[in-house]
Amino acid sequence: MATAQELLRAQCARFAALDPQLPDGYPVPPGEPLVARTTSGDAVAGIVTRTSNPPGSMQSLWQPSTVFELFPLIGEHSREGMAALLGAWRDWLRSQGAPERDSACSVIWPSRDVQAAKALLDGGFTPLSCLAVRPPTPPCTFTELSGTVTVRRAGPADLDAVVELTLLELEYAALVGSSTYRPDAPQLKRTAAHVRLHSSDPVWLAERGGTPVAVAECGWVDADRPSAGHRLRPGTWAYVNCVSVREHDRGTGVGQRLMTSAHEEFARAGAVGSFLYYNPPNPLSSVFWPRQGYRPLWTTWEVRPATALR
Ligand SMILES: CC(C)(COP(=O)(O)OP(=O)(O)OC[C@H]1O[C@@H](n2cnc3c(N)ncnc32)[C@H](O)[C@@H]1OP(=O)(O)O)[C@@H](O)C(=O)NCCC(=O)NCCS
Repeated sequence: MATAQELLRAQCARFAALDPQLPDGYPVPPGEPLVARTTSGDAVAGIVTRTSNPPGSMQSLWQPSTVFELFPLIGEHSREGMAALLGAWRDWLRSQGAPERDSACSVIWPSRDVQAAKALLDGGFTPLSCLAVRPPTPPCTFTELSGTVTVRRAGPADLDAVVELTLLELEYAALVGSSTYRPDAPQLKRTAAHVRLHSSDPVWLAERGGTPVAVAECGWVDADRPSAGHRLRPGTWAYVNCVSVREHDRGTGVGQRLMTSAHEEFARAGAVGSFLYYNPPNPLSSVFWPRQGYRPLWTTWEVRPATALR
């Protein structure tokens, strides 16, 4: 069985691989110890602290009166370890008589750990705030594309590549948003891609050495039609339905290169603008899209799970 020290060491190594901007250590304060086992039998642990923010304290302005905070020690078992620990925490809380009003459970965790994000979302946690950092001299240019990448319009013969790439996006989005990877997802995506590739909707593939590494699956929406839901100003809009870069090629400028081609084509075609949906908890798209010039117009808020709505 892994000791707390071993779990901490493995966790810090994972943090370092996830995001170079994270600090080296993970300080764990004294508190109530929790232990749990993942479904595959791996032991994980955590420390829970309880903080009171009495009326009149500054802290009471941005935190509830009672805050339970969990400091997970889950090593490499991001998703299953977090899920198991949240289950143990729930049981533990019941025995504590936690106040039903003006209280919170909180976990502060690296944004890029999307496996843990999924466990937290499934546990009913919503991403209420995030600590964001900015380098002293932020990039005024975009990531320079590394290697040779070409972009071309996709056609019916590219069905397999398009389906594979859109499924990769669904897999990722299901960890950090409202999507769900259903068992029939491959077939549904295949049918949708088949229709799109046989229509006038623009789909682009980015290739490295002739191998598809990214897709931008787009379409046109006439906002004068009632089907557009009156959410857009009148005119013809380009709709960016799915953009997906293979995991290995992310962060190397491929997405930026792909969207440059797409945006040029949208402008040439006379679109009044382009629109898309992204999930704020997605640590990649929530950075990528604003950098590409997109800004929120409508926000959908959800309570998860539904039973959390009282
Ligand atoms: C979001 C996504 C399409 C962006 O494409 P990309 O090729 O990774 O993006 P780029 O490399 O062109 O730019 C990403 C930016 O994040 C930075 N970045 C740093 N590390 C990164 C990493 N590990 N992964 C992704 N981006 C990273 C890049 O430096 C770049 O910064 P810049 O804007 O200053 O140039 C791609 O990451 C992806 O497929 N993600 C998973 C699926 C997804 O979320 N799709 C969008 C759904 S709305």
